[in-house]
Amino acid sequence: MQDNAAIIKQPLAGKTALVTGGARGMGLEICRQLAARGATVVIGARDEAKARDCADALRGRGYQAVGIKLDVTSAEDREAAYAYLSKTYASLDILINNAGIWLDSANAATPPDRPPSAASEADVRGTFEANFFAPVFLSQRLLPLLRRSSGARIVNVSSIRGSLTHLSDPASPVYPIKALAYDTSKAALNAFTILLAEELRGSHIKVNAIHPGWVRTGMGGGQADLSPEEGARTAILYAGLDDDGPTGGFFYQDERLPW
Ligand SMILES: NC(=O)c1ccc[n+]([C@@H]2O[C@H](COP(=O)([O-])OP(=O)(O)OC[C@H]3O[C@@H](n4cnc5c(N)ncnc54)[C@H](OP(=O)(O)O)[C@@H]3O)[C@@H](O)[C@H]2O)c1
Repeated sequence: MQDNAAIIKQPLAGKTALVTGGARGMGLEICRQLAARGATVVIGARDEAKARDCADALRGRGYQAVGIKLDVTSAEDREAAYAYLSKTYASLDILINNAGIWLDSANAATPPDRPPSAASEADVRGTFEANFFAPVFLSQRLLPLLRRSSGARIVNVSSIRGSLTHLSDPASPVYPIKALAYDTSKAALNAFTILLAEELRGSHIKVNAIHPGWVRTGMGGGQADLSPEEGARTAILYAGLDDDGPTGGFFYQDERLPW
């Protein structure tokens, strides 16, 4: 049975999308919403069986989806994802770098276990592996496929916690919590977004960072403002940008956020 949205309007029909961390939380909802708009969705997840189960469930609703094993921190998995995509599809149109981790405390609603001056090396390095190095090297690896698209979109799922403007503003809601590992990893991801977008400006590839809002997921916690469905909307908006849409920006819905 198809969702009404799929029957009424499929603006992403014919597009191929890869979503990392796509088998739970907001990533899964991003996959569902992309598929409902007609995209063929490749669900990447550390657990291949979970990725395949999620894809089966989407196909059961009449959508096009497949699941692949993709631990974004593994160079071997990134290479295998490239090999699979390049042999299966003519191009990649949408890359959603969604996978992310929060190691500073139990979840983003809980104050960090340690202040920045005492954050653990393992937490800082581990967080950078997943939240920064992985999207950088996955984007690099998939760039040849993105270049083959007539209009590719890279969406880096960042956080308002990566905004240096917000981190340094006592009036900002993010100011009271100082999560060194997470905040700096997302600030680095924002810098990557700017640099890649500027390199690719004038090409058919747009690169933007988004903040999804505070979302009720494993990371966001149960008290967060938004459902995963609502949280997925900003990523969907920037995955489906028209050719005259922005590149090199940082957004929450249609609002531009400060770096
Ligand atoms: N929730 C919020 O309020 C909020 C706010 C701002 C930004 N964000 C960002 O939104 C994104 C999604 O977060 P979420 O709220 O959905 O968190 P979540 O419920 O904790 O889900 C995290 C997702 O990332 C995946 N993941 C983690 N490490 C991975 C790896 N090495 N390889 C592949 N997948 C990996 C997880 O897969 P497994 O099932 O394998 O663990 C899971 O699918 C993250 O980038 C997060 O920083 C969230």
